[in-house]
Amino acid sequence: MATFIPPTERRNPSPHLPFGDHRDAPFYGHDILSVAQFGRNDLEYIFGVAKEMRAMVERVGTFDLLKGKILANLFYEPSTRTSSSFTAAMERLGGSVIPINEVHYSSVAKGESLPDTIRSLECYADVIVLRHPEVGSADVAARYARKPIINGGDGVGEHPTQALLDLFTIMEELGRVDGLTVTMLGDLKYGRTVHSLARLLSLFDINLRYVAPEILAMPPALVQELDAKGIPQTSVTTLEPVLPDTDVLYVTRVQKERFEDQEQYEQVKGAYVITPDTMEQAKDEMIVMHPLPRVGEISMELDTDPRAAYFRQMEYGLYLRMALLAMVLGKA
Ligand code: NCD
Repeated sequence: MATFIPPTERRNPSPHLPFGDHRDAPFYGHDILSVAQFGRNDLEYIFGVAKEMRAMVERVGTFDLLKGKILANLFYEPSTRTSSSFTAAMERLGGSVIPINEVHYSSVAKGESLPDTIRSLECYADVIVLRHPEVGSADVAARYARKPIINGGDGVGEHPTQALLDLFTIMEELGRVDGLTVTMLGDLKYGRTVHSLARLLSLFDINLRYVAPEILAMPPALVQELDAKGIPQTSVTTLEPVLPDTDVLYVTRVQKERFEDQEQYEQVKGAYVITPDTMEQAKDEMIVMHPLPRVGEISMELDTDPRAAYFRQMEYGLYLRMALLAMVLGKA
């Protein structure tokens, strides 16, 4: 007896290849789940597209590359920058957005499973950005979805689009990545941005320094992973010994929401505060980055220092996310 093939499957022989777009474009129909999927050539390509996006935004502001396309922003965890920059990116490209930020008000609060939510949303949208508290949630979503899934942060796992925009920031601000010393400071245990960034940086000839209280150290499995790639890594608990050599100081927030024991959070929350005084020991030509939000780890007095790159970093993020959307939708 012949097996019944539903019409949608017949129209989409490959799960991520709907009709009507340029199938030969790199990344067309791809998910963006982890930085592990990128090599140096890919990065060069993505950053090239991001630069074109910047030029277009500066010239015309908004244009119609993704006119008629719809992005679903599905956020199970709080977000300001990631969700709004994806919204801005989609709208600057002429597309539109279904924002689902308060999942308590949606069917998820009624007990709907992630695969069902994804399979429903993809009936309306062309691409889905997912932020979810569980590690591996974006992979689960991608397994069920026919449309591209972009991981906007899966718990303490990865935040690949943040790492891409971080690397783009370093390239644009310092002109190179090879040969740099990058110091990551703060919550290296729960901070998904540093997990993704460290992995992405391991494609380069880089020196990594980790500054964290012992209980917030970089996960040993990740240190081993980079060790196996020959990346020099040093872990310390104070910034002073490593600051003078640092080219990029990447500061992170202590991730209060990940602590099971709030007393432990109270003990480490103010562990580091970067002030203009701290920066006297730093090079003139270096940058301070932060994925934001900051909750006291960088004093506002530092904001006027030209080395403070964290707000410029957000702007690079817009161009980078425009590039990613255009790429997975086959228009770049
Ligand atoms: C980060 C995140 O969500 O992991 N924020 C962001 O996406 N810019 C960092 C954080 O919340 O501390």
